[in-house]
Amino acid sequence: MIKSPRGTRDLLPPDTALWNFVEGAVRDVFRAYNFHEIRTPIFESTELFARGVGEETDIVAKEMFTWEDRGRAESDKGQSLTLRPENTAGVVRAYIEHKLWDRGLNKLFYIGPQFRRERPQKGRYRQFYQIGAEVIGPATAGSESPARDAEILELLATLLDRVGITGWTLELNSVGCPADRAQFNEALRKALEPVAAKMCADCQRRVVTNPLRVFDCKVPEDQPIIETLPRISQFLDEGCRKHFDEVQEILKAVGVPFVLNDRLVRGLDYYTRTAFEFTHGALGAQNAILGGGRYDGLSEALGGPAAPGIGFAIGEDRLVMSLPQSAESAIRKPDIYIAPLGAGMNREAARLARELRRHGLVVDLGDESFRLKKSFEAADKAGARYILIVGENEVKADAFALKHLASGEQVTVPRGELAARIAKSS
Ligand code: HAM
Repeated sequence: MIKSPRGTRDLLPPDTALWNFVEGAVRDVFRAYNFHEIRTPIFESTELFARGVGEETDIVAKEMFTWEDRGRAESDKGQSLTLRPENTAGVVRAYIEHKLWDRGLNKLFYIGPQFRRERPQKGRYRQFYQIGAEVIGPATAGSESPARDAEILELLATLLDRVGITGWTLELNSVGCPADRAQFNEALRKALEPVAAKMCADCQRRVVTNPLRVFDCKVPEDQPIIETLPRISQFLDEGCRKHFDEVQEILKAVGVPFVLNDRLVRGLDYYTRTAFEFTHGALGAQNAILGGGRYDGLSEALGGPAAPGIGFAIGEDRLVMSLPQSAESAIRKPDIYIAPLGAGMNREAARLARELRRHGLVVDLGDESFRLKKSFEAADKAGARYILIVGENEVKADAFALKHLASGEQVTVPRGELAARIAKSS
C-alpha cells in the first residue's frame, strides 16, 4: 500500500468542515480590518529563505525541502528551489517585485501550506497550513507605528474569540533593533564562552555564528545555563523601549491581556522590536498556536527599499485542534435524500433535485436500482433530515411522499410546495 509521505496527512470529511469554518471566519475578520488576500508560489528560490529567514536558523539549516531544478532551459539549469517553509519572505519578495510601496500601506493575508522537514509529532507536520498576515509599506504610510503592532495583536484576539478559542496566552517581547542585538549578541558570547563546552553541539556552533539562537535550544540539560544568560530587555535603546511601551499601552486600552516574556526571541532571524506568540494549554508540547512580529529590515535584506512591516502566522492545524466544537457539528447534513424507485426514475429524481438545490437546499440523490430499504439505509447514513420517494405514481400525481426520518412522520406534498415545506422545518 502506498501511504502519504511521513509528516503529511489527508484531511478528510467531516474534519474539512472545521477547516472551512475556520477559513470562512478568518476571512470575515480580515475583511473587517481591511486586509486583502495575496497568493504567492509554494516554491521559491532557496536564496530567498537563506537571506530572509537566516542561514543559522533551524528552518534554513535543517528543515527545508530543497532541490536543484532539472529544467533544460539555460535559465532554469541548476537553480536551487525550495518548498516554502514560511510565507513572510515570499510576501516581502512580492512587495519588492511588484513595487507595492506605490499602494502605501499593504495589509495582506494568506492561507496555505508550508513545508518543514521536522520530526513529526502531535501538532507538528512536514506539510502544515498557515493563516498569516503582513502589514508592510513605506514608513511615511505609518508602517513603523506601534499602533500597527497593537492592531495586529487585537485582530488576533478577535480572531481567536470569533472561532471560539478561549484560554490562550499572548506572550510578548521586544527583540530590539540591529544595534541592540549586536550588543546583546556580544554580551551573550561573553556569557557563553566559559560554559559553551558543556552545551549541545548546536549551541556550541550558535555561540560562534549567532548566539541569540541559543534561545531556540530545546535540550533539557542546556536550560539551566540558558536561564542565567542576559536578556534582550536589558539592551533596548530609547526608541525600541518607547515603541514597546506604546504597544503595551494600546493593548491595555483595548483590553487585550498579555504577559511579558523576555526569553522569546522567535526562530527566524528577521525580527526586530515586537515579537510575540500565542500559546494554548490544550496543545501539549507544540503549544504555539501562532507567532509573529516586526521585521523592519527584511525588505532591505532582500534588496528592496526600506519597508517596515509586522505580521503573524497561525498554525491552522493547531488552531483546528484547539477548537471546542466537534467536526460532526460543523458539517451541514443533507436536508433531503431523494430516492428514485424503479426504472426511468433517475431522470425524474434529477429534475427534482435540481429544483430543490436551486432553492438552496442540500440534496443527496440515490439511484433507481436501489430497493426502498437500501434507499432508507443510504439516507440514514448520509444523515438526511427527509427522504423523498420518486416513483411512477408520484410523478403522475406530481406530488411526493416526504418522510421525516427522525419522527417517521410522512406526508404527501405537491411538487411546488416541497422546497418551502422542507426549508421551514428542521
Ligand atoms: P513560525 O513561528 O515559524 O513563524 O510559525 C508560525 C506558526 O506556524 C507556529 O506558531 C505554529 O503554530 C505553526 N507551525 C510551524 N511549524 C509547524 C509544523 N511543523 N507543524 C505544524 N504547525 C507548525 C512564521 O512562520 C512567520 N512567518 C510568522 C510571521 C509572519 N512573522 C511575521 N509575519
